[in-house]
Amino acid sequence: MTTVSEEVRNAAAELAKVGCDTPRLDAELLLARAMDSDRAAVAMRGDEEASSDLRTRYLALLSRRARREPVAYILGRKDFRRITLAVDPRVLIPRPETELLVEVALTFPAGVRVADVGTGSGAVALAIKDERPDLDVVGTDASASALSLARLNASRCRLAVEWMQADLLDGVECDAVVANLPYIPTGTELPVDVAEYEPRGALFAGPDGLDLIRRLVAQAGPRPRLTTLALEIGAGQSDAVAALVAAAGFPHVERLRDLAGHERVIVGRR
Ligand SMILES: C[S@@+](CC[C@H](N)C(=O)[O-])C[C@H]1O[C@@H](n2cnc3c(N)ncnc32)[C@H](O)[C@@H]1O
Repeated sequence: MTTVSEEVRNAAAELAKVGCDTPRLDAELLLARAMDSDRAAVAMRGDEEASSDLRTRYLALLSRRARREPVAYILGRKDFRRITLAVDPRVLIPRPETELLVEVALTFPAGVRVADVGTGSGAVALAIKDERPDLDVVGTDASASALSLARLNASRCRLAVEWMQADLLDGVECDAVVANLPYIPTGTELPVDVAEYEPRGALFAGPDGLDLIRRLVAQAGPRPRLTTLALEIGAGQSDAVAALVAAAGFPHVERLRDLAGHERVIVGRR
């Protein structure tokens, strides 16, 4: 016989062995799913005996995580700001640092039309609409399958966002852009969880990772209506992107840091 807390401890040890970054948290979240409950219940029911049904369900989930499938795909959901999104391998799993783009949008004047370019699951577009219902939000993506999940998320969250399949800003009219486009240099070695499970089209962008950002900034420059550009970037890209944005006609450039202290978002204004 094993108790719930022993199950978690054993599972966390196994997940640590295969290289999971957060084995204890993952073990708790997956047990909560197997119990059809939440992490608080896992803690509260620690001394209870784990039934054989529960152990069977738990083992099935753990074996997926042991192959390094991300927890968010196993659970089929991810929290972002105040909303919960359905996620699956059609879309990148929204990251906490991307919430900075939403914070930038909170500063926009009332009624502005904002495009979330490369919307994926719809995370940024939906969180903006949730927190600033007065803004007119459009989410765009090159991937039709990502957009179908974004639409599902919009209907589950009951948020009115417009969706468009587009190559960057092609055919998109807006006053402001927020974008977490792919920015990883092609060929970069990534953790198995990312490399083998998340969509490649959401990750890589040429030798320096800036192919898409460069094209987006070039499209934005000549559009007088577009007055604000907020771009998520990766490590070591802030000088290059700040220079691109300024050269494209957005002279007021700000660099925002994420909670880990990395320059994460470049905002250009004019
Ligand atoms: C890094 S993911 C970000 C997804 C979402 N914004 C987030 O933060 O969770 C980048 C997204 O950009 C989309 N994308 C890639 N190339 C694109 C292009 N040329 N035009 C529009 N979207 C593109 C991908 O399909 C993917 O959904």
